[in-house]
Amino acid sequence: MNKNLVSFLVFVVGLAVFHNAIFPIFTPKPIGWILNRYVYYLVFVAFLIITHFVLRLKPSIAMKALFVWFLGYYFYDAILFPPIPWTLFITYMVMWSIGVFLYISQDTDSFREFREPIVKTIVGEYKLAQIVVMIAMPILVGFATYKSIYPAYQEPVELRTVHPAPPATTKVHGITYPLESTNNPFRIDEQDKYKDSFPFLDADKQEYMKYVTEGGTIFFQNCHYCHGDQLNGIGMFSHVFNPTPANFIDPGTIAMLQESFLFWRVAKGGPGLPNESTPWSSSMPPWEEHLKTDEIWKVVLFEFWYTGHHPRTFGTEGSIAGSEGGE
Ligand code: HEC
Repeated sequence: MNKNLVSFLVFVVGLAVFHNAIFPIFTPKPIGWILNRYVYYLVFVAFLIITHFVLRLKPSIAMKALFVWFLGYYFYDAILFPPIPWTLFITYMVMWSIGVFLYISQDTDSFREFREPIVKTIVGEYKLAQIVVMIAMPILVGFATYKSIYPAYQEPVELRTVHPAPPATTKVHGITYPLESTNNPFRIDEQDKYKDSFPFLDADKQEYMKYVTEGGTIFFQNCHYCHGDQLNGIGMFSHVFNPTPANFIDPGTIAMLQESFLFWRVAKGGPGLPNESTPWSSSMPPWEEHLKTDEIWKVVLFEFWYTGHHPRTFGTEGSIAGSEGGE
């Protein structure tokens, strides 16, 4: 039998068996120094060399070049871990191909030997190979082109509810709060007549401003990275998140909401959103894990004070303080 063919079969069948049956054995969950993907690769190469030696196979130089080239491909594609980026893969393979080419073209004899099967295929001495190359190649190229330009189906538009209906009650730090009837314990004046006061300055004169100051401190310690130091949702980390952090200035966010709704949202964060709000992948952290109940209320108080919005109270429309005159 043709030694080239045997050699080719040894390579292909060997690879199939090794890759499917032996590779998994060498890559167990806890990796040991001997049960290791690189050891597997060496074993595979050793298998190829030994079988060729034992069977006295002498593949032609073109065949050898193909083997070596493919071994490189196999290594970068399946063995090397962690997987490398596509561009790096291309770079390595270009270098690997150049190396293989240098080897086959090192002298005129080996290069002629390498070219021989190619030339014979082209001039028609290898009839079968010629047919395969002339027919199969164009079909493959055509198929690849077809695959790459065939339009992919768009994933369906995912609608989400920005302000989902809150649950009836929420349990924070062991206490259950009915959302409808819970108010901010630190809100002293319903109408919030302190908008010309300043935190820190008026903190010791007015109790309300003391709570706002404390809420502001909590905000700048925890929230401004995302929600921005002007509460406009443009914090330094905000750009990487989708959905983006809420803009509290915007009349469409906290101005429309009850304080207890904010309390629930701050305490439970993105993970606590109900199903109707999926797919959210909201980065809003569940603050109950980091803040005390009082601190959550205070930071909510601060958000309303800073933006000049009034929380929506149950049964009334939220109103926007300022030029619009509150409607
Ligand atoms: C890691 C970034 C990040 C941090 C830090 C963060 N948030 Fe958020 N927050 C978000 C994102 C993103 C949203 C919008 C998606 C959502 O509603 O879950 C959001 C939404 C909110 C909402 C809901 C607004 C609405 O209109 O429904 C409130 C209230 C809120 N954040 C308050 C806070 C408070 C208070 C803090 C600090 C204690 C804080 N956030 C810290 C990312 C963050």
